[in-house]
Amino acid sequence: MIDRRGFLAAAVAGAASLVARRTASAAALLPRIARPPMTVYKDPSCGCCRKWVSYMQQSGFTVTAHDSSDMDAVKDHYGVPSDVRSCHTALVGSYVIEGHVPAADVDKLLAAQTQVAGLAVPGMVTGSPGMEGGAPQKYDVLAFRKTGSTTVFATHA
Ligand code: CU
Ligand code: CU
Repeated sequence: MIDRRGFLAAAVAGAASLVARRTASAAALLPRIARPPMTVYKDPSCGCCRKWVSYMQQSGFTVTAHDSSDMDAVKDHYGVPSDVRSCHTALVGSYVIEGHVPAADVDKLLAAQTQVAGLAVPGMVTGSPGMEGGAPQKYDVLAFRKTGSTTVFATHA
C-alpha cells in the first residue's frame, strides 16, 4: 500500500512532468525569434500569389501585399537573379523571399541569419505552398546571392 506521503510525491512528480512536457511542446510551436513584418509584391491577376500570402498569414506572418503590374522591375530592384525568379517577391527583415517558399524555411533563415540575399523556389512548383492541387513535385528551396550563385537550403518531397 502506498502511504500518503509517497502518493503525494508521485502526484507532484507526475504534474511536474506534465507541465514540463506542455512547456516543451508550446516552445516548439513558437518561432525562435520575433518575425519581422513581411511585404509582398505580386501581380494583381495572379491567384497563386494571393494563396501564398494567405498561407503566410495563416502561418503567423504579418503580411502587407502590394500589387505591381511590372514584377520584373520589382525583381530587378531587389536583386533577384533571373534564374531563380518566380511570381511574387517578398521582403522580410534583410531578406528577399522569391516565389512559393514554405514558412518554416523563412523561419529557419531568420533564426540562422544566414549571409545570403534570400530564398527562392524558382518557377511554379505544383505542391509548394500556394500551388496546391495536382500531383506534388519534389523541389528545392535555394538560398541565393545577388550575384546569382545559389545553394540548396532545403528539399521538399
Ligand atoms: Cu506562383
Ligand atoms: Cu502567383
